[in-house]
Amino acid sequence: MQKLTRRNVITTLTATSVLLCPAVLNAHKDEDFSWGPSVDTSKPTGQDRLVMLKDRSEPVDVTDLGLGQVAVVGVPTDHPDYFSTGMVQYVAILRRSPSQIAAAQKSDRTATVEDQRYLVVNLVCPHKGFAIGITPMEDRPFACTKEGKRHHSIFDSWGFGVHGKSSGEYMSVPKYTLDIEGDVTKAVLTLA
Ligand code: FES
Repeated sequence: MQKLTRRNVITTLTATSVLLCPAVLNAHKDEDFSWGPSVDTSKPTGQDRLVMLKDRSEPVDVTDLGLGQVAVVGVPTDHPDYFSTGMVQYVAILRRSPSQIAAAQKSDRTATVEDQRYLVVNLVCPHKGFAIGITPMEDRPFACTKEGKRHHSIFDSWGFGVHGKSSGEYMSVPKYTLDIEGDVTKAVLTLA
């Protein structure tokens, strides 16, 4: 079983320091968010942890994922949907924070998930298939790495498009199982 180790790959994030300041997060505009000019559109960025699998059936222990943190699991695939991500299926698992869970009470998003404590989604944009990255915005934690007026999709903590070309669409969900013991004394993700 793969055990996630703390491997910080956030350093590639090039969002402005203003957007990283909690005091102004609620005041941001979606169009203000930017990865910067050097972002790679073929793979996710901004995640707390990354683990690459050779075999998709290999379980990944995500027990130590903190509230609001996102881990990404990558696995080779021959599915054409992943052409723009180098034939790698990147899957994000977000352990929702209390405010991310509370946000569901104001919407119909809860109907789309099995367990409110976690969101598991493919990091491939519903628009044209470029990679989706992890933002520092708690209420909008996912954004397409392809920017510009004809792209720039941003998604909430339920994987729902709230800005850009994927507005009104959900990020796709992979087949998976998530075994959770008790109050998350153990959490193991397995892709199908
Ligand atoms: S590919 Fe993501 S918004 Fe166009």
